[in-house]
Amino acid sequence: MKLFIGTLALLVCSVSALIFDRPCRDTVAAKDNFSPAFYTGTWFELYNSLDQGNADCIDHHYTRRGLQQVFDVERVGFVQERGFLRETGVAAVAFPEETPMRAIFNATLLRVDDEEETAYSYRVVATDYTNYAVTWSCIDLPDNRSQEEGAILGRQTQLNEASYVKVDAILESVGLNREDFRFISHQPEDCDF
Ligand SMILES: *[C@@H]1O[C@H](CO)[C@@H](O)[C@H](O)[C@H]1NC(C)=O
Ligand SMILES: *[C@@H]1O[C@H](CO)[C@@H](O)[C@H](O)[C@H]1NC(C)=O
Repeated sequence: MKLFIGTLALLVCSVSALIFDRPCRDTVAAKDNFSPAFYTGTWFELYNSLDQGNADCIDHHYTRRGLQQVFDVERVGFVQERGFLRETGVAAVAFPEETPMRAIFNATLLRVDDEEETAYSYRVVATDYTNYAVTWSCIDLPDNRSQEEGAILGRQTQLNEASYVKVDAILESVGLNREDFRFISHQPEDCDF
């Protein structure tokens, strides 16, 4: 049923949901020698594979808690004809004692119209901190299926060609393709806040 709904959503609003006939993989790499200090700040969401309607103009604000390996995260966007999307959460490095530390997070997320927080795990597959970041997470579905969620983030609202070459190679290394993702507009006319 979920697959059916996902397929329908795909047809109706061209939202990509990456659903696979396999359980969640544990082979997807996470950025090594991760630096929370360098990762702090604003990231623009440029592509995603979330099953979340046509949200545009999405940005993320990462605020590090002091010197802890913990961020307060805010994700804000705009959905045409529906209005704001605003989520707040906390992302803690999952294994802060390990060296080198990997960019795997235990996160909680509260959508503004929800009552309850969702807990989930995600990782930064790769980032150069100053241009791009690629994130990935996975939800197990019934019958050994899974849904993967990925996003391409940029420090600017668009990436230069050299960064896209890197991002595409990173996606390929984890068996994904940018064509399976949805482009997120940051054009002022789509950001009617
Ligand atoms: C994150 O989750 C993993 C798996 O549940 C757990 O082993 C780890 O201790 C958690 N880390 C933190 C910082 O809570
Ligand atoms: C899921 O996969 C495992 C291992 O291949 C298998 O033993 C199990 O029966 C499968 N479960 C379902 C619901 O298909």
